[in-house]
Amino acid sequence: MILLAVGAAPGALAMPEVARELAYAGYHVEVILDMETRHFVGSASFAGNAEVVDKPSEAPEALVFAPATTGTLARLAHNLVERSVAEVYSVHDRTVFIVPDLDAATAGHPAVEENLRLLGEDGHRILAGSDRGMAAADEVVAGVLGGLGGPLSGLRIVVTAGGTREPMDSVRFVGNRSSGKMGVAIAREALRFGAEVSLVAANIAMAEPGINWFAVETVDEMRERVMSLVEDADVLVMAAAVSDFKPASVVENKIRRGEGLTVELVATDDILKAVRERNPGLFMVGFAATHGDPVPDAREKLATKGVNLVVGNDISRKVIGFGAEENEVYIVSESGERFVPQTSKREIARTILYALATEMN
Ligand code: CTP
Repeated sequence: MILLAVGAAPGALAMPEVARELAYAGYHVEVILDMETRHFVGSASFAGNAEVVDKPSEAPEALVFAPATTGTLARLAHNLVERSVAEVYSVHDRTVFIVPDLDAATAGHPAVEENLRLLGEDGHRILAGSDRGMAAADEVVAGVLGGLGGPLSGLRIVVTAGGTREPMDSVRFVGNRSSGKMGVAIAREALRFGAEVSLVAANIAMAEPGINWFAVETVDEMRERVMSLVEDADVLVMAAAVSDFKPASVVENKIRRGEGLTVELVATDDILKAVRERNPGLFMVGFAATHGDPVPDAREKLATKGVNLVVGNDISRKVIGFGAEENEVYIVSESGERFVPQTSKREIARTILYALATEMN
């Protein structure tokens, strides 16, 4: 069980989402809201995902103070715990997570800094935001689940996502329809499973909190970034749709319509192959987008690219794959293949990561 002690600060508004995500990860979540907190968020916002209680029903595995105000930090640092949580706070085998919600002025106050230091000394995990201010809901969830030791905890994973673009002139490119949703879903879920995640994002506008984000545009940029990141990684998941071809030469300015245009394309370097040559021990996952039955193509790529898993999907079906919210895949490895029927990209991501964790073991 995870006990979420919600403090009276604006960050309380994000807590229903945190509770929902923790519940989705399979935890029973209980929530404590005091009278003041109810000005920010009511118990109905937690309905269906968590139980709002006056007192926890049992000793929790994790106790999460979020948002934690300066007052909460001061009380916890000096062992003055609210009566409702005092009993479970004092048991030993629980992890305490603290999510400070401080404005810039109070964050730098020596008393606050001292309290955070004391809390750290007590072995509490402080989950600070990557930007100034409170950690986003996603960061809180990843911090808590990672701290509790998910199936990928301790692993460093590099994920690629999106579609590369190869310039023809100063305004045009050869690209593809990849939205990046599948790769981003894998990165997000890997973070929740406890991994340290780097995402090499080809032409994706959104950024995800908690993930080391590296924006790239072309195949060459992606290859360089991946090559350097995998030096310190355990796993590479190549979910990006990498251009197979690029213009043989790039015109510096804009090509005028009157000039007419014939573009000669040349094949790009295979990133997976290049990574395998230099990193024989890296666990690698490739993708295969195929028209029709993806399994034979996935099997072939397993061998030719030297990867450990290939995720294959049939791109002739419009409701799944490129740009869609859902997907349907086969996960193919040496030891066999597994069909994952049509479901959200998030569920697909989780299944791929479980398969990866199993295969690595
Ligand atoms: N890939 C790669 N480098 C490339 C092209 C693709 O690393 N230059 C990776 C993709 O990210 C994906 C896998 O290889 O994980 C399969 O991509 P795909 O385009 O289907 O494979 P190709 O090698 O291009 O084979 P083909 O087009 O002949 O099916």
